[in-house]
Amino acid sequence: DFLWGAATAAYQIEGAWNEDGKGESIWDRFCHTPGKITNADTGDVACDHYHRYPEDIALMRQLGLKAYRFSISWPRVLPAGFGRVNPAGLDFYDRLVDALLAANIEPFITLHHWDFPQVLHERGGWINRDNLPYFADYTALMVKRLGDRVRRWATLNEPRDIADAGYGSGEHAPGIKDDWKSVRQVIHNLLVAHGLAIPAIRAINPALEAGIVLDVWGVEPTSDDPADITAADLVWNSQRIDFLHPIFQGCYHPSRIDADGDNLPEIKAGDMALISQKLDFLGINSYSRTQVGAQGITSQVPGAEYTDMGWEVCAPAFRRMLNRINNDYTLPPIYITENGAAFPDVVSKDGKIHDDRRLDYLRQHFTQVRLAMQDGVDVRGFFVWSLLDNFEWGHGNTKRFGIIRVDYDTQKRTIKDSGEWYSRVISSNSVDR
Ligand code: FCB
Repeated sequence: DFLWGAATAAYQIEGAWNEDGKGESIWDRFCHTPGKITNADTGDVACDHYHRYPEDIALMRQLGLKAYRFSISWPRVLPAGFGRVNPAGLDFYDRLVDALLAANIEPFITLHHWDFPQVLHERGGWINRDNLPYFADYTALMVKRLGDRVRRWATLNEPRDIADAGYGSGEHAPGIKDDWKSVRQVIHNLLVAHGLAIPAIRAINPALEAGIVLDVWGVEPTSDDPADITAADLVWNSQRIDFLHPIFQGCYHPSRIDADGDNLPEIKAGDMALISQKLDFLGINSYSRTQVGAQGITSQVPGAEYTDMGWEVCAPAFRRMLNRINNDYTLPPIYITENGAAFPDVVSKDGKIHDDRRLDYLRQHFTQVRLAMQDGVDVRGFFVWSLLDNFEWGHGNTKRFGIIRVDYDTQKRTIKDSGEWYSRVISSNSVDR
């Protein structure tokens, strides 16, 4: 029953940014602001998936995918984020889900993958607590519409990134810089929004499965020296488990609270119970690890391979991270909701993309997840990031993660060697060495 799949996100592939009544998102606004994105790329058209989804589903079918993880563009269905519904937006997701089911592919939905409604942002975004119930309303709208056909629902994708990159470093929309008090409040508010959405899903149909997608990269010491181990543990405890710990332990980690200093968020009575409700699954996105010593973060691990994102390839750390969270918390079943690699592909004379390094990256990570399962970690599925080359946020179109190539001039899709190989993994349900 292992769920072999691939993942995407609305803003990264859909395009049609202002079509059929869609509202503006903070990513539309951010990309239209000069200087924010490499090459001034935008997601205005992206992979044009909004129009080409039948072709994309035919490719998924060709690969033999059992499941497809995608996200809903909140302002496509609720242009302002609340209030007036856009029927054409709802119809799109309706058609998408029906076409997936007709192809025998299970839809796995992420409700929010970063394209927050601009109007709601202007009303205080994730900092304003009054906005949080709107996320639950939006959730209920979607579950009412698609819950008869879609079983698994994730509330947020990588909320830590929304807080850190959106409100801290400013590298992502809405591009707010250095407002650490806000970052801390946003972390808490995102957790509360997640906590409000979970019962909204279950109220509509208790048989549905509700969860969240967190980015968890292992943090490992440079050596066995206690000073290095202490430094690595501090990074893990005070930063890396910001969401994992409150959700599965019902409180913030003491190291996190120490690090907060004067920036403690406002926490209302009942919040922590809301945040730590039981989930049906946990989605894990993980691409690499962070190596830390008493001297700080290692920028270049000697001898290690790095991807085009500058991320170290270290598959054994994936297994160790899964075991660590499995030992530290009582977790529901896990889905690997994202893992994959960006490499600068070349189209060969034969028209193919011989992406050996991506293929090898996937092979190593599949193998390590299998070992983690043998260690006792309950992993139920694996979604490769990504189905298609797509718009990689601040990096624009320059980073290619797809197992299918997209030529952005012609929108032509070509299955890469990694995609052909993945297809064989799925049909044989096994990984060659
Ligand atoms: C993750 C994001 C996803 C994609 C990959 C490379 O952090 O969730 O949208 O950009 O990184």
